[in-house]
Amino acid sequence: MDDIHEKIIILDFGSQYTQLIARRIRELNIYSQIVSYRLTPSEIRAINPAGIILSGGPSSVYDENAPHCDRGIYDLDVPILGICYGLQLIAHHLGGRVVPGTHREYGPATLNVVEPRPLFNDTPAEQRVWMSHGDKVLELPDGFQPVATTDNSEFAAVAHPTRIYGLQFHPEVVHTPSGSEILCNFCYDVCGCKGEWTMKSFIERSVGEIREQVGGDKVILGLSGGVDSSVAAALIHKAIGAQLNCIFVDNGVVREGEAETVRQLFGNAFKMNLDCVTAADRFLDKLAGVTDPETKRKIIGNEFITVFEEEARKFSNARFLAQGTTYPDVIESVPIDGNPSAMIKSHHNVGGLPSVMNLELVEPLRQLFKDEVREVGRQLDLPENVVMRQPFPGPGLAVRIIGAVNRENLAVLRQADTIVIDEMRKADCYYKVWQSFAVLLPVQSVGVMGDERTYENTVVLRIVDSQDGMTADWSRLPYDLLERISNRIINEVRGVNRVCYDISSKPPSTIEWE
Ligand code: XMP
Repeated sequence: MDDIHEKIIILDFGSQYTQLIARRIRELNIYSQIVSYRLTPSEIRAINPAGIILSGGPSSVYDENAPHCDRGIYDLDVPILGICYGLQLIAHHLGGRVVPGTHREYGPATLNVVEPRPLFNDTPAEQRVWMSHGDKVLELPDGFQPVATTDNSEFAAVAHPTRIYGLQFHPEVVHTPSGSEILCNFCYDVCGCKGEWTMKSFIERSVGEIREQVGGDKVILGLSGGVDSSVAAALIHKAIGAQLNCIFVDNGVVREGEAETVRQLFGNAFKMNLDCVTAADRFLDKLAGVTDPETKRKIIGNEFITVFEEEARKFSNARFLAQGTTYPDVIESVPIDGNPSAMIKSHHNVGGLPSVMNLELVEPLRQLFKDEVREVGRQLDLPENVVMRQPFPGPGLAVRIIGAVNRENLAVLRQADTIVIDEMRKADCYYKVWQSFAVLLPVQSVGVMGDERTYENTVVLRIVDSQDGMTADWSRLPYDLLERISNRIINEVRGVNRVCYDISSKPPSTIEWE
């Protein structure tokens, strides 16, 4: 997307908040891009950013392996904003002094603004900010002025006339209530951005690019019914219509009514070329008796590739494979020593597909964060229940049945899952949580129903709040909602006589049970 004029780049020093900075900037209608801190000044000049943000990071500027950007960036005549470690790096590079703090400062602090212009325009003179740092700046380099202070930080915000700024606190987190305004002031008032990045303009540009890339050739797309592949399908369909062929594989471990819903929406309403493959038998035969979670995942992943390849052969003249890859999937995490956020990898449903298929990739959502993907979906008239869908893992219900998967226990889990979704929707809670689903445990316990003793399975409710799936906490739902879900499952689902609520957070527990 070389024709995006306004860009803010974020040099990533390994902060857990780097993506959050990028999202906050996008919310201001400005395109932001996370790049390696190793970029040279000439590489940065080639990107032609309106501004540069130096992210926070877990290192100390004095660490042997501390990430340092090229000092030439200060001579580029592009405004710079250093956040936390970014500020310390600026101070260190330009002749100031950074020292280990006497104690780590973590949590809220009260900021007193000394000079509101330009960063603190239209924000309170006294405001709450979020601190999270060990080292601190003790002496400023020549020419820098403090523009805000806290009790613990004389240099909580600093400025240099050559448009270099630093913040010791984190404007990107919600615990800094004026954080977005501060970033807005930097982008608009300092960098001169105008706010050109909207999903409407993205769709227009993207449609043109897809047409240019694809020409008169055919594209195939694996449609799962999830948000990303659905939005990718709608966008590519808008661009090239009947040249797009979607393939939906019913692997036997999808939710109740899933295949029908996909057929109705994409086949009937959108009139896309849609190939629904019923392959449940093949998957379930291979899964028979398998209890190890990783083996289940591998079987489903490999079988998917086999089925998809077979189907794709029907479109022998296809040259492209479309995928709903999004920005968090492609950000190159910088391997910074000891930085856990650099090690977390996202799941890939169709991992391995492109390499075995010898097709060129079309990935129109590569630049978008999830909330942007949803907005694109809305603008393309996808219904709210598709664009706001909760995440669903590629290996589907198979990883929500502990132990071996078969038709019987899948039917039980499907019924319980439908009840959970139904009650969550009725209580207006479905869109408020990150995920809400049932897990089937092959653990029998004693119960009574009527006058009879029962000895049946257990369903666990896993309902969590999360920002991005990396960390999560169990949702504090009203007791009467939990009661309704429990009663309905025990009364309506044969083979279940006990419902439990999972109150583990991630970490250390994961969201899915397998
Ligand atoms: P965990 O269980 O690792 O899950 O805490 C984090 C998030 O990822 C989803 N998940 C998957 N998504 N393919 C996916 O597309 C997968 O294989 C997969 N496994 C887990 C999970 O539902 C949660 O939102």
